Amino acid sequence: MGKICVIGGGGYVGLTTGACFADLGNDVVCVDIDEAKIAGLKRGKLPIYEPGLQELVERNAKMERLSFTTSYDQGLKNAEFAFIAVDTPSGSEGEADLKYVRIAAQTIAERMSGSVIIVNKSTVPIGTGDWVAEIVQEHIKPDLVFSVVSNPEFLREGSAINDFLHPDRIVLGSTDRQAAEKVAQLYLSLRAPIIVTDLRTAEMIKYASNAYLANRISFINEIASICEQLGADIKEVTVGMGYDKRIGHAYLDAGVGWGGSCFPKDVKALAHMAAIHGRNPQLLRAVIEINRDQRRRVVQSLRELLGTLHTKTVAVLGLAFKPNTDDMREAPAVEIIHLLKNEGASIKTFDPVAMERAGEILTGVTYCEDAYEAAEGSDALVIVTDWNEFKHLDMARIRESMAQAVLIDGRNIYEPKLMQDLGFVYRGIGRGYDTSGPGQSAEVLNAGQLEESEIAGDEAP
Ligand code: UGA
Repeated sequence: MGKICVIGGGGYVGLTTGACFADLGNDVVCVDIDEAKIAGLKRGKLPIYEPGLQELVERNAKMERLSFTTSYDQGLKNAEFAFIAVDTPSGSEGEADLKYVRIAAQTIAERMSGSVIIVNKSTVPIGTGDWVAEIVQEHIKPDLVFSVVSNPEFLREGSAINDFLHPDRIVLGSTDRQAAEKVAQLYLSLRAPIIVTDLRTAEMIKYASNAYLANRISFINEIASICEQLGADIKEVTVGMGYDKRIGHAYLDAGVGWGGSCFPKDVKALAHMAAIHGRNPQLLRAVIEINRDQRRRVVQSLRELLGTLHTKTVAVLGLAFKPNTDDMREAPAVEIIHLLKNEGASIKTFDPVAMERAGEILTGVTYCEDAYEAAEGSDALVIVTDWNEFKHLDMARIRESMAQAVLIDGRNIYEPKLMQDLGFVYRGIGRGYDTSGPGQSAEVLNAGQLEESEIAGDEAP
């Protein structure tokens, strides 16, 4: 198979992509301008936490299928494919900042020594593929040829390797059908549907997918807020909705909202693109606004239940934007903690892996050894990230150790009735039903069960 060079190979997408392609049997060189990252990777030290990635990198580096360098020349030598997987941060207007893509494209053009297929993995505004082609055309040596293919990634942090190896689909966009087919070959063994289209459509598929998922979460959070007022339970509502095949069960968890390095940036960027091209992205704006409100709602609930936040101690459980990552980018916890501190609350917090990262951006809070230490003496406990270990805490012990027993379950991980029985003043997201009656949870009866209960009914006197 042809050699693959991954530019931005020390970053999240680049490293995962590089390691997975190596594992599929390709010769991969990850290039990154960050010398410290590359030096660490050469020693086997990964710059990010991703389940399974350490083993994958170690195994493939040992088999000499995966290597790391800061040198474009070395990376591009004999490379058939140059993947661009650099950061595209948000600019001041919400637009994607393409400075790293520009540098990558120009440097590939200047350093490539043979013909190369340039594959863009970074999430880039619609039209970037054409722009990359122009940059390369401008800087390439006269006798070399190239093609540009857009190949957006759909990896989720925390399950990136599984997502790479078991994709729902592969999207390839190019004006050069042959180049797209060569990239398709790299994915053939994964046996996923491969959609081949033009550059701009491929770029849009990525934005539309992320925006749709963010929209779905904001939608369900809006329904949750109505549930609270009208006495319905969002968890059961989503079970009932999800059985409709057109809706499905995934991505319908109400909570404190979406965060991370992708959804916030991509929804903003898509809205920005729409606006500068004369369209009014009303829905995207509402999706962003609802998400902002979800965080504020937590603080509002605490204010209502505690009277004031001034001099109160709030235990915040979970800091990362979602479980199984230490990523703090756009994490709901950051804004919630800032708002609470602004109102005079003291914060005690615990996260299983993100405390070191959180320490770089959140000061003036007490980082605890575990959830129990955070809860001790606190007036309220807030679940912000749904780490699995929080589902198995000894909540009776926690209740005993707290000064006041206010529990805001920002991810709906507990049964309201159980928590109330333990003495908590419980508030979930969208859990509005009357919990004074017997605890209920949506039950799905199958025909067999119904027949049995009918027989039992027949026998009753
Ligand atoms: C997301 C997409 O899911 C990936 O397909 C995409 O490749 C990636 O962005 C990207 O563009 O690079 P990721 O940012 O890792 O992946 O996060 P998700 O697992 O999708 O979660 C995003 C946020 O939504 C989290 O804050 C999570 O807590 C929240 N969420 C998710 C909910 O509030 N409710 C849900 O039902 C699901």
